[in-house]
Amino acid sequence: MKKKFKRTTVTSALPYANGPVHIGHLAGVYVPADIYVRYLRLKGEEVLFIGGSDEHGVPITIKAKNEGVTPQDIVDRYHAIIKKSFEDFGISFDIYSRTTSKTHAEVASRIFRTIYDKGGFVEKVSEQYYDEEAKQFLADRYIVGTCPHCKNERAYGDQCEACGTSLSPLDLINPKSAISGSTPVLRETKHWYLPLDKHEPWLREWILEQHKEWKPNVYGQCKSWLDMGLQPRAVSRDLDWGIPVPVEGAEGKVLYVWFDAPIGYISNTKELLPDDWEKWWKDEDTRLLHFIGKDNIVFHCIVFPAVLKAEGSYILPDNVPANEFLNLEGDKISTSRNWAVWLHEYLLEFPNKQDVLRYVLTANAPETKDNDFTWKDFQARNNNELVAIFGNFVNRSLVLTHKYFGGTVPARGELTGYDKATLQEFAEIKQELEKQLDNFRFRDALKEAMNLARIGNKYLADTEPWKLIKTDAARVETIMNIALQITANLAIAFEPFLPFSTAKLREMINKKDFSWEELGQIDLLPAGLMLSQPELLFEKIEDETIEQQVQKLLDTKKQNELNSWKPAAVKPDTSFDDFTKMDIRVGTVLDCQKVPKADKLLQFKIDDGMGGRTIVSGIAHYYNPEDLVGKQVCFIANFPPRKLKGIESQGMILSAVNSDGKLIVIQPSQPTAAGAEVG
Ligand code: MF3
Ligand code: ZN
Repeated sequence: MKKKFKRTTVTSALPYANGPVHIGHLAGVYVPADIYVRYLRLKGEEVLFIGGSDEHGVPITIKAKNEGVTPQDIVDRYHAIIKKSFEDFGISFDIYSRTTSKTHAEVASRIFRTIYDKGGFVEKVSEQYYDEEAKQFLADRYIVGTCPHCKNERAYGDQCEACGTSLSPLDLINPKSAISGSTPVLRETKHWYLPLDKHEPWLREWILEQHKEWKPNVYGQCKSWLDMGLQPRAVSRDLDWGIPVPVEGAEGKVLYVWFDAPIGYISNTKELLPDDWEKWWKDEDTRLLHFIGKDNIVFHCIVFPAVLKAEGSYILPDNVPANEFLNLEGDKISTSRNWAVWLHEYLLEFPNKQDVLRYVLTANAPETKDNDFTWKDFQARNNNELVAIFGNFVNRSLVLTHKYFGGTVPARGELTGYDKATLQEFAEIKQELEKQLDNFRFRDALKEAMNLARIGNKYLADTEPWKLIKTDAARVETIMNIALQITANLAIAFEPFLPFSTAKLREMINKKDFSWEELGQIDLLPAGLMLSQPELLFEKIEDETIEQQVQKLLDTKKQNELNSWKPAAVKPDTSFDDFTKMDIRVGTVLDCQKVPKADKLLQFKIDDGMGGRTIVSGIAHYYNPEDLVGKQVCFIANFPPRKLKGIESQGMILSAVNSDGKLIVIQPSQPTAAGAEVG
């Protein structure tokens, strides 16, 4: 039996303030959370939508160090960018605050202290790497060394990015401090641990028995964590960025970022409602929901609940609808490789098209498995769905009403059987939509909303008011009335998904008030109501626009290849004598032709200052022969002649092998005498 709740607290993962947000964030967390919250609000339910930036953690300190600024500078910069992106995309938080706020430090410290005083932590001394030059303990990320698995020399203390293995700093061969470059030493340090092993029994019962309704990806991940057996987790770190551990003798130690960040949900609620926040977190009649991505599951389903339970006065989440990941054009989204569509950049290139992205990311949301965003799909969904179905129907209804009835909603006359069947069909949409939304199946919910527009389109196509208007104007009044009622229904059904477009649509149909309850009804627009001028809701996106975006990604790929390319290892020593045995000369290309039946070879006639020579070279894939005529090249002049495809080659043209494997002919930087020696 489902419990009846009085109100819902909805949280969405606090993004790290060390970079802007991209489509993966939106698709995985913020758009689904926003759809759900808008839906509840439309239903008139009591709901609070909490967001904010996660501003602690080692990566922020590393970024600051790399840029020569303070961690505060970094988080100030990205908090502002992220907050703006969410506003721009209509993510309707009741508050978007940050974990560097004063309230947050107070709330997080209090929770830590309460658990500490109850004996809810275990103290443990362990050996950790310490940098004697920089005089500080080193976070896992600050230790670099050789991966024991793949021998990559640039593995981090927590992970080797070359082979993907997660590591502990002690696994690294030849560890070095990333701060000073010195070899760190092991030193004892004391930390506080949350004894998850002790919490395991109730967690098992609570998740595996009482929350079988959680999404299979979430339930499955929890089960496998629990089945592996939980270990105590450190909740403090030796770091100078974060909330100081509120215990005597803990100088230089801060709360672990994953301890304080989820508490940010609570602090931000308190910041918004200083006198009234507790009911959103401590009342059994409140339903708590965490929207997150799959990499956050263990923290929200196991660690944070254990913290709340240990504190003792908080409710636990009722559901954690986590999504899988969104990929981009077949590759994992990556901030460091700039493989992403950044929200602030999207808006520069597609101004006012927030809803198109919201639509595509929902239609293709990674709800049950990882999914791929492609620009082609983006275009197709815009052109074939938003424009051709939703936009087209709305536009026809409104334009025809203006044309036939001067923009006034006509009255309905007697209904035909077909009218009734159509109305019946759309009356069912509400139930279907609710069923999907209540179960966090936003893709299917969106499909239902789109089906409503399909019903409308089909209705107009079948009844053909544009033909009837000449013979049966009264019938057309009924048809247009029904079309307009469907239009008004669309303005409600799509509100959670496409808030910008539905606001525009409501302006056009002069519908100020609206609620979820009205959905499926046929008297949303009274006869005689004057409509405003229609405008197009969506525009076609041209191939050219899409090609530009694809090109931008190809350029990024290219850049990444260049960045990740490493020159080949240097060969064993040779000698100057050996070198001088080689006779390298400059020559001028007199003629250059493809060698028949040999797709790699070009035949050169070279002016070598000594009567000329023929050289055959394997660079036909990289050059047009005519482009080389008149150019100067370098060649080895004292190789014994050899036959290639029946042609005698008298030397070898020098070229460089570029990072992409392409050959580039080496040329002197100024016009040089044919036959000049190179050395
Ligand atoms: N900053 C984390 C991430 O981006 C999410 C933190 S969620 C919170 O993966 F609950 F801890 F805030
Ligand atoms: Zn490795």
